[in-house]
Amino acid sequence: MVLYYKILTARASVNIAVIKYWGKSDERLKLPLNDSLSGTLDSADLCATTSIAVSDTYQSDRLWLNGFEQDMSDGSTPKMLLDQIRSIAKVNHDNHKVHIVSHNNFPTAAGLASSAAGYACLAFVLGHLYGIEDPTELSKLARRGSGSACRSLFGGFVHWQKGHDHDSSKAVQIADRNHWPQMRAIICVINDETKDVSSSVGMLRTSTTSSFVEHRCKVVVPDRVDRITSAILERDFERFAQITMQDSNQFHAICLDSYPPLLYLNDTSREIIKLCSVINSLFGKNVLAYTFDAGPNACIYLLEDFVDQFISILQDFFPASNQGSSLEVKGRPFGKPDEFVSKNIADSLALNGVRRMAGSIRYLINTALGEGPQLIEQHIEDANLQP
Ligand code: PMV
Repeated sequence: MVLYYKILTARASVNIAVIKYWGKSDERLKLPLNDSLSGTLDSADLCATTSIAVSDTYQSDRLWLNGFEQDMSDGSTPKMLLDQIRSIAKVNHDNHKVHIVSHNNFPTAAGLASSAAGYACLAFVLGHLYGIEDPTELSKLARRGSGSACRSLFGGFVHWQKGHDHDSSKAVQIADRNHWPQMRAIICVINDETKDVSSSVGMLRTSTTSSFVEHRCKVVVPDRVDRITSAILERDFERFAQITMQDSNQFHAICLDSYPPLLYLNDTSREIIKLCSVINSLFGKNVLAYTFDAGPNACIYLLEDFVDQFISILQDFFPASNQGSSLEVKGRPFGKPDEFVSKNIADSLALNGVRRMAGSIRYLINTALGEGPQLIEQHIEDANLQP
């Protein structure tokens, strides 16, 4: 007989850093070597949805991610997060185990910061189940799951203050999504066969072997965080874009300086960097800000008025196939570009040696900034969530 049953569901978005987190000062607490800063994207396009059910009929705590059961034994990361939230909330869980089901609305294998959305969502929904609702507190808990997840507890632009212990290492919102409503992001999901080195293995390698890291963490990042924060507050895209691109470049430079080197960018990524740089110099100002995480996919921040034009350029230079079939665009609707401007940009790109690379981008996601996690009414339908 079911004496107790409760279910809650939440949604949390992916965030893409403009000042990158890379390296930990404490592996267990997931304290970072440097502050970082990101934009939280629109959950309509890139989000994790997690339903959590509690019942006295469940035998043990269990978790399924995209249909596959995950390790929830003691010592596993999700179990550690669950135990920690229960201990803070002082709940006795002996008779109330949980079943958790989580889904992403984008392919996990695409390497799009899925763990950030996933752990932010898990911390948020568990917190709400056990009465911990303060987003700052939840950001510290999400951090223990996957460092960058702490930034997905807020919408808009978010600063992760590195701190020096569990309590001081937390995310703080700089500006919500409505502060800069013209801000957009286009994600290029790149075809890639190679298996990435995971971020935790990569970070450890960089922090133990690269001699540039110390300078980056002590000198470069603190200055960039200050400058990009004021660029965001003043809605200054020129400065925002320059710092974003420089920080992505430096992050990949310390990856290359690691031993053995971490090679996350591929030929398509480098062609996208070239394409953005040529377009920025053609306009005589930054209209595009590329950034790359620990993988080849590009995230390009730009303003609303350049979206249609830029999508048409990407479709021109990265057709889906050699037969010229069109590159698919998911996410927000978009309009027609100015053909004359497109032709001028294409001529200039060709003149500067930017190559057309058919089939190298799988699809684009046209998106914008979004909000922090939300509770939603619609629970995931899954037999494992029944009492
Ligand atoms: O939180 P992790 O372990 O997935 O690391 C994220 C690292 C980067 O995405 C490369 C940078 C960042 O700040 O998000």
